[in-house]
Amino acid sequence: MALWGGRFEKGVDAFTQEFGASLEDDKAMAQQDIRGSIAHATMLAKQGIISQEDCDAIVSGLKDISEQIADGTFEYDVNDEDIHMAVEKTLTNNIGKPGARLHTGRSRNDQVATDIRLYAKDLTRELLEGNVELRRTFIDVAEKNFGVVMPGYTHLQHAQPVLFSHHMLAYFWMFTRDYVRLTAAYEAADANPLGSAALAGTTYPLDRAYTTELLGFDHAIPNSMDAVSDRDYLLDLEYACAVSMMHLSRLCEEIVLWSSTEFGFITLSDSYSTGSSIMPQKKNPDFAELTRGKTGRVYGDLMALLTTMKSLPLAYNKDLQECKEGPADAAKTLLDCMAIASGMLSTMTVNADTMLDQAHKGFTAATDVADYLAKKGMPFREAHEVVGKLVLYCEKHNKGLEDLTADEFRSASPLFEDDIAQDLDPEGIARARTTYGGTGHDAVRAQLKEAKAALAADEAALPKAPESK
Ligand code: ARG
Repeated sequence: MALWGGRFEKGVDAFTQEFGASLEDDKAMAQQDIRGSIAHATMLAKQGIISQEDCDAIVSGLKDISEQIADGTFEYDVNDEDIHMAVEKTLTNNIGKPGARLHTGRSRNDQVATDIRLYAKDLTRELLEGNVELRRTFIDVAEKNFGVVMPGYTHLQHAQPVLFSHHMLAYFWMFTRDYVRLTAAYEAADANPLGSAALAGTTYPLDRAYTTELLGFDHAIPNSMDAVSDRDYLLDLEYACAVSMMHLSRLCEEIVLWSSTEFGFITLSDSYSTGSSIMPQKKNPDFAELTRGKTGRVYGDLMALLTTMKSLPLAYNKDLQECKEGPADAAKTLLDCMAIASGMLSTMTVNADTMLDQAHKGFTAATDVADYLAKKGMPFREAHEVVGKLVLYCEKHNKGLEDLTADEFRSASPLFEDDIAQDLDPEGIARARTTYGGTGHDAVRAQLKEAKAALAADEAALPKAPESK
């Protein structure tokens, strides 16, 4: 019989029972459910609502269940709708009456909200750690390949030479912003709904500040109706995951391009590649592609929850049961994808010569040639025009700018002198970009230092798993 047996003369049929159940999704937060129940029972005893003896029996019974769940010996009953019922029923079967007192002054509505918030915090903590590891990889790869010059792109057309390290650090900063977003999601989840009961609070003298402290929440949620019906913190988490997946999809797109025959910029390690069942020569960047593809499901998780939440009247509605699978999926997908990206980056070979070769192509020196004229007094717009014509000339004669003779340069403008040759070298062009945040060697060295400091600060600020008292 269900927990509400008194009011009902018959139960639902097996299919309806299964349809209404959330046990499968709940299993992931079984330990959080037990933590919440231990805190609730401890508080009930402190307030004299149940006896200390009953509390001790409940706590030790819950700890046994926790162990069984951890070692996989806990027997789930398909007739239990959710984890709350599964744990409470087993507890009561095991310890008798004290187990039946656990739910005093509590509803599954504040219980599930507590479980999900604890679970969201645990997931986000893992994500923050994964984020730090991935960012460390970008720094390592940037350091290991310092000085490698590649073409920088706009519109996927050669634009100007840049340092490969600069390109890697651009990703470092994207994921630094993701750390901030994840931290905001963590803080949003870090509030205690327990003690709100079904929606209105209870007549028992609960000490919500005490369960807040026991569960390691930052504060108690001030409105019981908001407490049981809010899932915004899961949207925050999914949004943070979605943006981070978008960043990974951009990285993976570049990995796919760079490992193609056309680019040849990198060679992925065999451990991060797959072959073809028919084409013996193939080495495919499957894991980069799959990460790019998984971005779609994480966006889907975010859209699903936004849609579930839309128009829900206060307070608890069963629709809210649909809120658990998506955030767990989004978080786990991002966690796995960050680990895969880290692995791909730290094991790939960077083909520095190919990158440099390509940096020569596509007139990547053109801006610097125009700057050369501008620095000699020609207005930049005029210089742009002169160099545009030179590029056209080169294209017609199948030459690069570095193939032009001093006379050819001078026929475009008398301001050109022999030293123009120095301004055509991709390495020198990159080095000359000395502005803060620019791609010059010194600027990138300074940026690396700044990135390391940011990473160290974020690593030191990682939230610690609260010791449940
Ligand atoms: N299984 C439910 C959920 O996950 C627990 C809360 C049920 N509350 C209720 N009033 N039916 O949301």
